[in-house]
Amino acid sequence: MVKPSLISVSRKKNISTKLVKAVKRAVGFSYAPYSKISVGAGIYCASGKIYTGVNIENSSYSLTMCAERIALFKAISEGEKNFLLLLLYSPRVNFITPCGACLQVLSEFAPDIIVVTMNKNEEFKFYSLKTLFTKPFKL
Ligand code: THU
Repeated sequence: MVKPSLISVSRKKNISTKLVKAVKRAVGFSYAPYSKISVGAGIYCASGKIYTGVNIENSSYSLTMCAERIALFKAISEGEKNFLLLLLYSPRVNFITPCGACLQVLSEFAPDIIVVTMNKNEEFKFYSLKTLFTKPFKL
């Protein structure tokens, strides 16, 4: 089994405070009355712009959308093509990482992206998408 390799762990190292602030602000807009797990995501694009997303649940549970896909789809729908880094944060889950569906979607549009997860002490873990998801489905 291939274990996702941890690239580095650090406190605020190399992460723009702007991105951290944007994700922490966004997580407050999460709609998660069923799981009570709020998730915030922020994608930093090569254009320099940040797009945030939050999880949005539904009483028909399977219609729930994850924060990562909302952030990514917002960016794509604004014409973004190059994605450098995804920052993820959940106040309830220590060092949250993307679900399988989000990994598959990220690998379609942003195969080289760095995934950074933050805990509530603003400590970070860095992964490459390629180490988290080694064999994306491809047509
Ligand atoms: N969730 C995300 O937003 N991103 C993930 O990568 C994992 C799960 C959300 C979906 C649901 O609203 C809640 O977290 C609990 O599964």
